[in-house]
Amino acid sequence: MANSLKILFVASECVPFAKTGGLADVVGSLPKALHALGHDVRIVLPKYASIDPSRLTLQRLQESMCVRMGGGQEEWCAVDMGHLEKEVPVYFIESWKFFGRPGIYNENNIDYTDNPQRFAFLCRAALQMCIDQQFQPDIVHVHDWPTALTAAYLKIWHGQDPVLSKTASVLTIHNMQYQGVFSARHYEYIGLGWQHFHSGQLEDHGRINFLKGGIFFADALTTVSPTYAEETRHSDLGAGMQSYLRARGGDYAGILNGVDYEDWDPASDPLIPANYTGADLSGKARCKEELQRAFQLEVDPGIPIVGVVSRFAGQKGLDLLYEAIHRSLKHMRVQFVILGSGDKELEWKYMQLPSLYPGRVGSFIGYDNRKAHWIEAGADFFIMPSHYEPCGLNQLYSLKYGTLPIVRSTGGLADTVEQYEEATGQGTGFKYRDNNPGAIADTVGWAVSTFYDRHEHYLAMQQRAMQRHFGWEESARKYVAVYLQALAKKRRS
Ligand code: ADP
Ligand code: GLC
Repeated sequence: MANSLKILFVASECVPFAKTGGLADVVGSLPKALHALGHDVRIVLPKYASIDPSRLTLQRLQESMCVRMGGGQEEWCAVDMGHLEKEVPVYFIESWKFFGRPGIYNENNIDYTDNPQRFAFLCRAALQMCIDQQFQPDIVHVHDWPTALTAAYLKIWHGQDPVLSKTASVLTIHNMQYQGVFSARHYEYIGLGWQHFHSGQLEDHGRINFLKGGIFFADALTTVSPTYAEETRHSDLGAGMQSYLRARGGDYAGILNGVDYEDWDPASDPLIPANYTGADLSGKARCKEELQRAFQLEVDPGIPIVGVVSRFAGQKGLDLLYEAIHRSLKHMRVQFVILGSGDKELEWKYMQLPSLYPGRVGSFIGYDNRKAHWIEAGADFFIMPSHYEPCGLNQLYSLKYGTLPIVRSTGGLADTVEQYEEATGQGTGFKYRDNNPGAIADTVGWAVSTFYDRHEHYLAMQQRAMQRHFGWEESARKYVAVYLQALAKKRRS
């Protein structure tokens, strides 16, 4: 077995090029960690219209690449090459027809109707690029439904191919709720053969299910925390995939996400008003003061701030949090700062909150990376009331920024936050189980009372949290073990 593997990531998002959520953080950082371990890692991404080419150094590799789809249809695209921090080559697939528009998956929260074509094409294009460039990856590592079909194409289209027949595939599931389920009328174009259109492989109640196809065809599967791996195998968090995941037995593992501490470290973060470390928290006090000013809150270091940075999606529990905030503000001296966007009704509700509680609640509706960093740095607590959370990155950032997480105990939140013990002062955050506004308000109350009444515990937890390390090194090694397992499986077959 070769020590150095050739690994091709195929993904729909990657920091700093295109991001809607944590998937982009992972695809933008895990390859760097694998590269540091000595592997040849490359990434394939769509060249979305939102990617500003003037900010990149791009080299045109192929002017016109022919990508065959089902039913004898041909699509033409170009391939550019850039780099992720000079280390990791990134192949950009340029197709005006499919990616020459502002959104990644949607615009104004409405999905593009040709998403099945767009992402099936991306999967095919990634493999065609390997053939045209004579790049023979050991592993193709795909992420979520948009690129899951790459695993199916590898087996069904490229089983005998001189370049790709030895390549194994790994699918990482970042979120089981998004499966890419589309009308069967797209199946002909996708071109995977009707013999595979049955409930064990690509069919789902008469429709096509991209993720299910990946679950069947990938040589190995992972998700982004051990607890979520268990939850998806054994509870309705599997969103209908439980039995298919169980059928894969030991091929399905949970590997915790890491943090890119080059981007998320209060000691060096250029996006926050002042840097700080555990040894000298004066910078954090400045960040708090500036945050209170920026969000028009009462400027007072003695009032704890609870921060939120989130997609406004059903998963995140922000409907419950909205009720809980009203309850908390009735009884407690506390402030809330909320940053997020997505669901229109929630956007409207959170936009109104500051006028209902002037000086006590600040909100910004939109996507703003600088503000996200600033909230992590300036708040005292960070809340994630998720109904489910495959891993969650913000609680990991919060720990590093000494901003104690308040989380629902699910998925990666359960795995990464250590419960506060009032008797001993141990722990790094506050966890609760019941999924309702009362439980959230009670836990906020517990955290806030710790801030006021057991401040020495608060300070010790803050130190402990800042020392917790969730770097990529260890997780990258676990991925390499999965790659080797996938390769061994491929060779056996
Ligand atoms: P998910 O991927 O489910 O949205 P994660 O916690 O894994 O959840 O990752 C969310 C990522 O997206 C974090 O990097 C977070 O800072 C970022 N993010 C979410 N919403 C916003 C926003 N409105 N502005 C800036 N960054 C955001
Ligand atoms: C998904 C999940 C989130 C996870 C991220 C990166 O968006 O919702 O929990 O951290 O993917 O894996």
